[in-house]
Amino acid sequence: MQDRLNKIKIDFSKELDSISEPDNLRDLEVKYLGRKGELTKVLRGLSELSLEEKKTLGKAANLLKTELEEAVLNKRTELEGSTMGEGSLDVTLPVEAFGGAKLNPITSIIYEIEDIMTSMGFYVAEGPELESEYYNFEALNIPQTHPARDMQDTFWLADGNLLRTHTSSVQIRTMLKFGAPLKMICPGKVFRYEAMDASHSHTFYQVEGLMLGEDINIAHMKAIMRELLSRLFAREVEVRLRPGYFPFVEPGMELDFACLLCEGKGCRVCKQTGWVEFMGCGMVHPNVLKAGKIDPGKYQGFAFGFGVDRLAMMRYGITDIRLFYEGDIRFIEQF
Ligand code: DAH
Repeated sequence: MQDRLNKIKIDFSKELDSISEPDNLRDLEVKYLGRKGELTKVLRGLSELSLEEKKTLGKAANLLKTELEEAVLNKRTELEGSTMGEGSLDVTLPVEAFGGAKLNPITSIIYEIEDIMTSMGFYVAEGPELESEYYNFEALNIPQTHPARDMQDTFWLADGNLLRTHTSSVQIRTMLKFGAPLKMICPGKVFRYEAMDASHSHTFYQVEGLMLGEDINIAHMKAIMRELLSRLFAREVEVRLRPGYFPFVEPGMELDFACLLCEGKGCRVCKQTGWVEFMGCGMVHPNVLKAGKIDPGKYQGFAFGFGVDRLAMMRYGITDIRLFYEGDIRFIEQF
């Protein structure tokens, strides 16, 4: 038996030395170590030996097995190393170039809005998406019993906090931080408990704006919005104001801009009116200023809030809001 092991060892080494192709190495492995291999046969035959022989020969046979396995492994590494660059995987080759990363159009528009607004002296504020009832409603003059709370279907958390339903919550936080005078915008994600369709999403983006000073009025806001929209769309954009109701402003208004697709003549996008509804706005309610620790006797100003998704849809001719949030690379690559 020991002789057989010696012979296996010698034959194996000789054959291994002559191998230069991975395929032949695989055959050699099968010949000695496979299910019906030379060495495997010896190992199987051990059960018929006496206990004493089993001990000595078993140990020798198992040692040889490990030795052969290691030799195969080393040879394989050697062969694969030498065939690199000849059709097998060469890990040193540069990877195939791919299109590169692109920004979601929502992000691009927000960056542009930030550039335009900061050029007019506005500060870009941030606030938490997970918000307290106080900042989202209470401090904005929307008490618990106020019917305006129905206007926004809210994702409530079990602990009484919520996912902010608008970026208006950041108004209060920023007033408390900086006081007045103040010029700020806050772009950000907001959440509403609504069913999704081509024009509604439970998650979307808004930009909130606030300007406070001793003599700030709606005419300032109109001029600033006209400037923002004209720069965003790279042409003169007309705006108009209509009365509207929001608990945090008095008087409250809505601002429309002249439809860019039909130049005000009337089309499907503007529902034949020639105007596109753009945002809610108004003069900040004294109760809101008080919540922000600002003296309503001294300071006044305007606030506004608009959706970024609609703006991006209008600018790029996108007809389904869901496309922004699906992360499909084929969509993003077009911008
Ligand atoms: N928060 C309002 C909304 O989500 C938008 C808005 C309206 C913001 C009027 C304002 C404002 O600051 O003055 O629909």
